[in-house]
Amino acid sequence: MGHRESIAAVLKFMASENERKPILLTEGVPQLFRDLIHERTGVFFDVDRLDMLLDRLSPLAQKQNVHSYLDYYYLLKYEENNQKHWAEVMDAISVPETYFWREFSQIEYFVNDFVPKWFGKGKGPLRVWSAACASGEEVYSIIMALMEAGLGEHPIEVMGSDSSISAINKAKRPVFREKAFRILPLHLKEKYFTRVENQWELSPEVAKRATFSRVNLLAPEEAGLLARAPVIFCRNVFIYFSPHAIRQTVALFASRMPRTGHLFVGSAESLLRLTSDFELRQIGDVFVYIRI
Ligand SMILES: C[S@@+](CC[C@H](N)C(=O)[O-])C[C@H]1O[C@@H](n2cnc3c(N)ncnc32)[C@H](O)[C@@H]1O
Repeated sequence: MGHRESIAAVLKFMASENERKPILLTEGVPQLFRDLIHERTGVFFDVDRLDMLLDRLSPLAQKQNVHSYLDYYYLLKYEENNQKHWAEVMDAISVPETYFWREFSQIEYFVNDFVPKWFGKGKGPLRVWSAACASGEEVYSIIMALMEAGLGEHPIEVMGSDSSISAINKAKRPVFREKAFRILPLHLKEKYFTRVENQWELSPEVAKRATFSRVNLLAPEEAGLLARAPVIFCRNVFIYFSPHAIRQTVALFASRMPRTGHLFVGSAESLLRLTSDFELRQIGDVFVYIRI
């Protein structure tokens, strides 16, 4: 049975993963979840991924002891003080794929060009925001690159945030598995990490320079303050967003970032036709959006 047929059933009981308690699923409810999650988080599940969305929500609905998915939907949509439930949803839909030195040429440009110019002009402390940092590899890559360039003592604050609380908890306890090191040069792995059983612990010298918080990019009251940073890395999250949600996020950045602020997005992401507040500039093989 195809996806459409499966959700077209007027009444259907879906069993939880462990078959403990069936939860009633009625027609149209997956689309309600899709729209609500899109509105609140920016993440858009197209029709082919609706089954996956329900799979991820199923254990959360189970935990609430609801009779139907519609009850769980109402809880997410209308219940007051339901931030805890939303934190679980954001965790459940997160794709926290990341690794050290990912798309490194942008970080290299930031470290070797932007930072020296910033301090060369006598500007004060610099804030850098990694806006969907998952388990922190992007943040720590920026810090290690600064240290490698001899800029570690400059007043540069590197802040990481993500909507997934478990990703942020991992970032705060910086112990990484082998797959995080797929492209990090070996000498840097040996310099900055210590083996602990089958994982690698980051040196406290690097770790102490980062700060982390849980922030939903679609919530201006959460993201607004951090968006004042003159440098934002917001990479490999817009691939999960609808064009509408990307516009909203970039408009928030534009409203808070200083002029000439630099916004780095992932190499598979483009803001063309989504904003007129930023100008795309190419420096060598590096693309950066400049707040104009
Ligand atoms: C693929 S990771 C990107 C990690 C890192 N920036 C990189 O490029 O390697 C995408 C992250 O975006 C986060 N995310 C998804 N929606 C978000 C939102 N509305 N606000 C903040 N983070 C979000 C996910 O939790 C996930 O950790």
